[in-house]
Amino acid sequence: MTTIHDVAKRAGVAPITVSRVINNTGYISPETRQIVNKAIAELGYVPNVLARSLRSKRTNTIALVLTDITNPFFTIMARGVEDTASDAGFNVIFCNTDESEEKEKKYIQLLLQKQVDGILLVPAKSTSKSVDYVQERDIPVVVLDRRVSNNLVDVVRCDSEGGAYQLVKLLIDLGHRRIALLNGSVDVSTSEDRLSGYKRAMQEAGAEAEELYYYGTFTQASGYELARRVMAQTPRPTAIFAANNLIAIGALWALQEMGLKVPEEIAVVSFDDLPQSLVAYPFLTVATQPAYEMSKKATDLLIARLNDKAPDDQCQNIVLPVELIVRSSSGKVVS
Ligand code: RIB
Repeated sequence: MTTIHDVAKRAGVAPITVSRVINNTGYISPETRQIVNKAIAELGYVPNVLARSLRSKRTNTIALVLTDITNPFFTIMARGVEDTASDAGFNVIFCNTDESEEKEKKYIQLLLQKQVDGILLVPAKSTSKSVDYVQERDIPVVVLDRRVSNNLVDVVRCDSEGGAYQLVKLLIDLGHRRIALLNGSVDVSTSEDRLSGYKRAMQEAGAEAEELYYYGTFTQASGYELARRVMAQTPRPTAIFAANNLIAIGALWALQEMGLKVPEEIAVVSFDDLPQSLVAYPFLTVATQPAYEMSKKATDLLIARLNDKAPDDQCQNIVLPVELIVRSSSGKVVS
């Protein structure tokens, strides 16, 4: 059966644009309208009238589907979504998937039954199953924090590759070569992008032979286990790059248990800062992501799509820069 997604791909526009042509809502340029109608005719696409009639009434509710509500990064993200949505008169439903595709699929189906007006999704995996499923039902969706294989969707994320490169380059400039990356899950874009940044810095320094990286999960338990594993290697790494804040906390526990001093015996850097309210003496060198700003931008974009006031028919791919905060854990002399 031909779907709205097939029409969008054929016409080279976002599915929401196809929906606007069919529903005759929002401004669509004559050229775009002609291209979309041509694709509809060529594919013989028949809109799902029942689904559309169900969606004609607004619930003024959007949903944020995220992967780990215990992670301060996502807590700040949820704060940004709720502040922005409520200012625009929308309620928010929060769903936590624990990085599980199964849980994500269950929540997406539930949210569509609840007839939410739009969805902000932190995808558990880089596949685009959930995005395709939502778009085929004419519901606007914006992907947050990560990328998916479907490039016909709005994405708002941070520069994981560039942030990883900056962290590893800092360690290399401090003289480290045997640097271990404790990474998240293999099929998540933030893991892949942080590995790419790590490799770019290592190869630029001619340290490919010293590359040492392990995939795990974005959890403290994984950081603990991977730290013990890399520190058992010979030669031992002189620095650890933790792919996120929870991995860093787990790794620091393991290093403390092993009686290793940071940074004297092992330097540590990480993605994501820890909330200053939780840390008495901030000492971790981090690449910090503007989680609040990212979630505000994504929510504004979703609501603009809902109100047919989006800046552009084309999908947005917004990549925000990360900020490097150098503290004592990397061993750099901090003046
Ligand atoms: O700590 C959260 C960060 O690490 C996010 O970028 C998330 O995708 C995980 O990779």
